[in-house]
Amino acid sequence: MYNSNSLDPQSPQARAIFNLGIISTVIFVLIFVIVAGTIVYAMFRFRGREGEPDPKQIAENKIVEITWTLIPFLIVLFLFGLTLRAMSSVDPPPAPTPDLVVTGHQFWWQADYPASGVVTANEIHIPAGKPLSVLLDSKDVLHEFWVPKLTRKMTNVPGQKNHIWLQADKPGVYIGQCSEFCGTEHAWMRILLIAEEPSKFEQWQQAQLQPSHPPTNDAASKGLTFFQTSTCINCHAIHGVAGADARVGPDLTHVASRKQLAAGILENTPENMRRWLKSPQHIKPGALMPDFSLTDRQLDQLSEYLETLR
Ligand code: CUA
Repeated sequence: MYNSNSLDPQSPQARAIFNLGIISTVIFVLIFVIVAGTIVYAMFRFRGREGEPDPKQIAENKIVEITWTLIPFLIVLFLFGLTLRAMSSVDPPPAPTPDLVVTGHQFWWQADYPASGVVTANEIHIPAGKPLSVLLDSKDVLHEFWVPKLTRKMTNVPGQKNHIWLQADKPGVYIGQCSEFCGTEHAWMRILLIAEEPSKFEQWQQAQLQPSHPPTNDAASKGLTFFQTSTCINCHAIHGVAGADARVGPDLTHVASRKQLAAGILENTPENMRRWLKSPQHIKPGALMPDFSLTDRQLDQLSEYLETLR
């Protein structure tokens, strides 16, 4: 359903990189064919025969020396010019304030929208057609943000703010992936990037800004109490719940509205939520959420509560 083919660019930035790749490849193939072809031709056409004298020597022939220096120099100069042109369209200077801050964590992504104050995880929404200035940061080790159809790779480095421009030509769902080895669950650091019409994006932002509501049914209320009194609250924030403002794990204020769990490993269904809470270390070994050996009752209540967070 979703794919992440870097040979199918869907933004001006990705297209500039793709075009540069195609032109360079054509030039390299031409050079290879001409050089290899000339060698093969010469091997057969000018093969040495017994008793023949040595061929005429051309050492220090100025015309030959200049020609075979100048041609590669001009090719390299041409490629350099094309590269500069691609760089200026892919990497213009960052905006004074970023539209989006993406922070890598072992093993998930935090997305902050400074203008609105929205904070979410793994599922990143953007308005289609608008270039976003994105600041990349990391809380622990090197990660690398990459959405192949839309933009270049860029490393998230702790203590060093890197930058990319991110844009999608049209609404759609794009898959990204951490592309710098960052630990056991590196492969499960997916990015679900959802580009939507600006008005829909605005609605999404407004919905994300709403605090959570106190649950109305009994099981969910018990789940909330369990969340607050157990270790969950030490890592996860839920806007609207007193004391729940930790930023160690993903913000859960609207967790039930997301399409996936655990950075892309599971579809976000109530059954999968319960499975995830029951044994995160079985589903994603090495994730920083431990198995808490919750009882069936606790699992029911907690997942019931989390499903209210839409
Ligand atoms: Cu994060 Cu690889």
